[in-house]
Amino acid sequence: MLKIIFIWGIMIYYSDNLSRSLEGYLSENSYTKVFILVDENTDKHCLALLSLSFEYKVIKIKSGEKNKNINTVSFIWESLLFENADRNALLINLGGGVISDMGAFAASSYKRGIDFINIPTTLLAMVDATVGGKTGFNFLNKKNMIGLFSNPKEIFIDVKFLLSLEKREFLNGVAEVLKHGLLFDLDYFYKVAELTIHQSLNREFLASKLSYRDWEELVKKSISFKEKVVNEDFEEKGLRKILNLGHSIGHAFESYFLDNNIDLKHGEAVILGMICMLNLSCEKLGFDFELQNRIISKFKKIYSLNIYLFFENKNIIKYLIDDKKNKNGNILMVLLDDKLKAIYDIKITESEISESLDFLKTIY
Ligand code: GLY
Repeated sequence: MLKIIFIWGIMIYYSDNLSRSLEGYLSENSYTKVFILVDENTDKHCLALLSLSFEYKVIKIKSGEKNKNINTVSFIWESLLFENADRNALLINLGGGVISDMGAFAASSYKRGIDFINIPTTLLAMVDATVGGKTGFNFLNKKNMIGLFSNPKEIFIDVKFLLSLEKREFLNGVAEVLKHGLLFDLDYFYKVAELTIHQSLNREFLASKLSYRDWEELVKKSISFKEKVVNEDFEEKGLRKILNLGHSIGHAFESYFLDNNIDLKHGEAVILGMICMLNLSCEKLGFDFELQNRIISKFKKIYSLNIYLFFENKNIIKYLIDDKKNKNGNILMVLLDDKLKAIYDIKITESEISESLDFLKTIY
């Protein structure tokens, strides 16, 4: 088991034998009760693969962004209370970003906080959601409106879980990896894009050990990019805002489609947001048009998002105005400048956003 030190002393372990790693952790820490939070997918495809020798109770919630709300958090609190979980109980979040965001929030607030650990099972959760201490849930269909920063005791990553993912769910996570490429290393962006395009053409997408092993190094690399930023600015007072690249407009799309009961994944929304971001970067910060086109052509080869482009601009802009990252009513975004440096807190007007949304509609 390979151990790396991560944010503020939190350990991330890359584990080939999760059952043994968890047992080791529990033997070093004494908990009164252990709870494992799953959804129907991770119950079937992940928990069932573990042969755990310790006692635990399962808390099972429904998967999906539309269930990432106060009712589900309340259900987790009730389940803990019903089972008499005291302050020395442990919650293990076994799942993707929805599970870890809500489980971490429920644990951090239950009886003023119990320990939790994260075991991300999706690519999105491995490279982004479970690392960095962001927790929370959607409120009034607005993305992650309620939440707090709270770190798990530890994070265990087993990339074998990637094999359990449907292609669409896998590509959901690729969006965040591509974002890391644009932010930190353009060669990495092209490498990830090419690998994804190559594997997408293969009917056996990720179904072999070989292809998931390709991703092991990329998961580690993406986490190391995020690590540097989060270690410098855990509570997102400044630098960490760059990790929101493509997310302001992306979250507006997510909220809009959530409200309209249309299934759009976070990563897909981030790709839409990043296309708008590239257009705004060209218009406002002199980002290279040719490079913009090259990047967008990679996005198009990986994601077919044309069905999401029938919206009125004002309906998306309405959600952008509520974005957590805004200040004094100004819409603030992260853009890339002519040297590919991410600049945060760039003020954008509603008409500039509308123009970037028009540009997006011409892409597919
Ligand atoms: N997902 C962006 C961040 O963790 O800051």
